[in-house]
Parts: sequence; C-alpha cells; structure tokens
Amino acid sequence: MHFNAEELEKKGKLVKKDDRYEVYDVEMSNLVLSLTKLFPGKATSGHYHEESEEVYHFLSGRGRIKLGDKEYEAKAGDIFTVPKDTFHQVINTGEEVLKFIAVFEKYEGRGAKLKAIIPAAGHGTRFLPITKAQPKEMLPVFDKPVIQYVVEEALEAGIDNILIITGRGKRAIEDHFDRSPELEQFLEKAGKHEMLKEIRRISELANITYIRQKEALGLGHAVLQAREFVGNAYFAVLLGDVITSPPCIGEMLEIHRRFRASVIALQQVRREEVSKYGIAELGEALGNGVYELKDVVEKPSQEEAPSTLAITGRYILSSRIFEPLARGERGYGGEIQLTDAIRRLIQEGERVVGYIYPGRVFDIGNKLDWIKSTVLLSLESEFRQEIVDFLGDLELGR
Ligand code: UTP
Repeated sequence: MHFNAEELEKKGKLVKKDDRYEVYDVEMSNLVLSLTKLFPGKATSGHYHEESEEVYHFLSGRGRIKLGDKEYEAKAGDIFTVPKDTFHQVINTGEEVLKFIAVFEKYEGRGAKLKAIIPAAGHGTRFLPITKAQPKEMLPVFDKPVIQYVVEEALEAGIDNILIITGRGKRAIEDHFDRSPELEQFLEKAGKHEMLKEIRRISELANITYIRQKEALGLGHAVLQAREFVGNAYFAVLLGDVITSPPCIGEMLEIHRRFRASVIALQQVRREEVSKYGIAELGEALGNGVYELKDVVEKPSQEEAPSTLAITGRYILSSRIFEPLARGERGYGGEIQLTDAIRRLIQEGERVVGYIYPGRVFDIGNKLDWIKSTVLLSLESEFRQEIVDFLGDLELGR
C-alpha cells in the first residue's frame, strides 16, 4: 500500500483536533486509515483493541512508540504492528510535526466485548405436562437446572453481559439467578455453609438482564427482542435448553475473531432427522472443521436437505441479522425463524461460517437427550460407581 499524507489529509475526515494533534480518518472498504499529525513535544495514546491488530506507518518527523512494556525509536519509513489488546503510545521527540498513519480493520463492534442472548421463552410443548407450570429451562440435569449450564458456558468464555429472553410462566428463571435473603438466612442459621456459598455464587454469577417476549412467535422473534441490548455489534446466542460438552461457545469466539464473521455451530444428524432442524449447505473448507456457509434451510424434507449438518443452538451473529428479523416474515410453522434470517444475511453478502462442533450436544427440549445428559453427568460425579453398578444390575439387553 502506498501512502501519501497530503492526499489522505485532503480526502480524510477531521475527527479530532486539539493542542496535541490532528487526526484525519479515511475509510476504504473494510479498512480505516487514520492520519495523525502530532505536534512537537506531545504524545498520543491509542485505544486497546480487543479484536484487531493495528499497523503504524511513520511518514515524517522523529519520535518514539511504546508497545506494551517495550519502547522503540520511530522515524519516517518505520512500520510497527500493534498486537491486539496492547496499550500503545506515540511521543513526538523531534522539532517538527510527527506524521504517522494507523491502519486498522473496520468492523462492527470493533474492540467491544461480546454480549450473549439466551432465548428461553418457548412453550416447551414436547415436555408437557412438566412444562405446564414450570419452564423447561429449569429442568434439572443431574444437579443443576439446564439454564445454569448455559449461563456458565457463556461465563467460561468470558461473556458476562447476558440477556435472557423470557415469557409468561418463566419467573422461576429470574428467581433462580436472584438473591434469596430468606433462604440465605435459613441456611446460615442451620449452619449449612457450603450450600449457602453455592446459593450466593449462583446469584452473583453474571450481569443478567431479562426481557419478555410477549408472544412465542419463534426463535427469530425471541432474538429480535435483544436488538436494543445488542446495539451495533456481533453477539452470541446460546439456546437456553441446549447443553454442549465440552462448552462450545468459547471455541466459536476464537473462530469469530479469526474470520471476523458470523459463526454457526453444526453437527451431523441422520438423514431421517433433517426435517427437525435447520440444515446448512457448506462452501469452501477453511480448516479445523470450519467452512464458508452457502445457505441454511429450516426443517427441509429429506429430498430438499442440502446436507445432514444441523444447526445446534450456538451462534455468533452480526447485528445485521436484526434487519431481516424485523421484517417479520413468517417461515416454517408460521414462526419467525432465525434460520431464515441467517439465510437472508448470506444472500446479502454477509460472511457466515459453519463450525462442525466435535463435542456432545444435548437438546434438553427432547426427553431422550434430557435422560442421556443426566446419565452422562452422573457418571462424571461422585456417584459414578453406584450408577455403573445400577445399570449393570438392570442386565440391559440380556
Ligand atoms: P424450541 O425449538 O425447542 O421450541 O426452541 P419450544 O417452543 O421451546 O419447544 P417445543 O418445540 O414446543 O417443545 C428453541 C429455543 O428457543 C426458545 C426456546 O425457549 C428454546 O430455548 N424460543 C423458542 C423462544 O425463546 N421463543 C420462541 O418463540 C420459540
């Protein structure tokens, strides 16, 4: 790339000017070229960028650049790369104006910490009558409600700003993550200190906000409720009734950072089952189970299904998804489908990649998966031997 300071100054938008410096930004497709004129004896600090590197190209003058705890001389022609998340500062040590250009990738939510949405407003009809008076997200899986596993998965990945989409009859979810002074007092008096610690830990887990989906019009409609909370940034979606083991969203965040794209978790299902899921059509392989996505289809027939790779309940999405969702088009079953909105994103040229997740996925909305997940987790607990003996005593298959 060839830089010309005069031209950049002419084309650029003056975004900052004070007694220290003048900054002109020029946007070029997905890049921003930021020309800085730093006055003699002055210094300027750059922001921390969580998600991208920045390249500093010095054009004229003399100075120094601090990158983390290292410091270097900088003069015309020098180029430095500022690694992600690194404090950096430029100091003009010369007699004349120090000119340099910072080049960085422009993308939504640059530098921002991702937020997570947990939709939990569905009716859970597959679990009636249990779900008549209690949310399926509160079903116990071994010793915790499903949704606690989901919140802990987000936290483990460093996402602590969480919005749970609830609806009528879902109060138990809010109560679960709230303080419970009477219960805490009771446990304290009864000397049950370990349990008290656990109860307090749950209420201090994360910064959780709630919003109600007034009518269960589908997963896409549930996600649309998060529009204001999300703003103009990528965000994670973790279905409130899906457990992944080992946790999937952390790996997806890495993929998102690498490809700067929306990421959808996928798993192989049997061909007879494709009509229960959103199914993906893969494009080019990008390595380590990651593929460009060409299309996604909600609940296709076996004949129409472009593959047997199903969307599994973990997503990282661009906030551009809200545009097709807000159009309110109804899809399969008369619902506003998230899969249909992802399809629109792809058609509109947004980059979406699929990650074939190699771990286990339990859809707790389905009875068989619920039982399997409890058995698996109990086998990882202190009851392991007793469960093994118990299953052995049943003389299964004999
Ligand atoms: P499901 O596809 O499991 O639908 O939703 P459901 O209505 O909850 O369950 P069934 O099929 O009637 O048994 C997947 C996720 O999306 C949420 C659900 O709470 C679940 O976490 N969801 C679904 C909403 O939040 N709102 C909706 O309108 C639909």
